[in-house]
Amino acid sequence: MQDREALLIEVPMDKRTNKTTSLTSHAYDELPEDIRSLISRAKKAAEKAHAPYSNFMVGAALLLEDGNILTGNNQENAVFPAGICAERVALTYAHANWPHIKPLKIAVVARRRDKENYAFVTPCGICRQTLTEYEQKFGSAIEIYMLGPDDQVLTAAGVDDLLPFKFSDF
Ligand code: THU
Repeated sequence: MQDREALLIEVPMDKRTNKTTSLTSHAYDELPEDIRSLISRAKKAAEKAHAPYSNFMVGAALLLEDGNILTGNNQENAVFPAGICAERVALTYAHANWPHIKPLKIAVVARRRDKENYAFVTPCGICRQTLTEYEQKFGSAIEIYMLGPDDQVLTAAGVDDLLPFKFSDF
């Protein structure tokens, strides 16, 4: 057995210490029209979610650079791990069909089937890594808009604010 010290990976100090992340919060009504329309497309998508197990209906709407908006929703499966999140459905559908068009912004909303109010939702770890993949490919950040209760919307300027020290950072 190797001793413990030999297994440590050296990470440059500047990369370890220089990250700061922040999200901004806005009232829905204060957001520009293109973002409100993206959120409204995400709401429509959530209504078509296949979520018979969690009853947590999530919708995502992705704006591409050519103005096209693609939507997705969570697709659950009786074999639970096989389910896919709304964000990844939208992102992978977009990239499968328009691989050369840059994704710019994504809106995510969610509500429980038995509630009218939207629940606060942020993309899961795998979706954050998927966002990372496309940010890296196109060389630019994807803005993330997350609708919460009381019509407050949290914004991340890019996945870096949700997933600092991600795989591609080192
Ligand atoms: N889910 C999403 O679709 N996106 C998220 O950002 C969080 C979680 C889905 C996965 C599952 O179908 C249900 O919500 C409950 O976790």
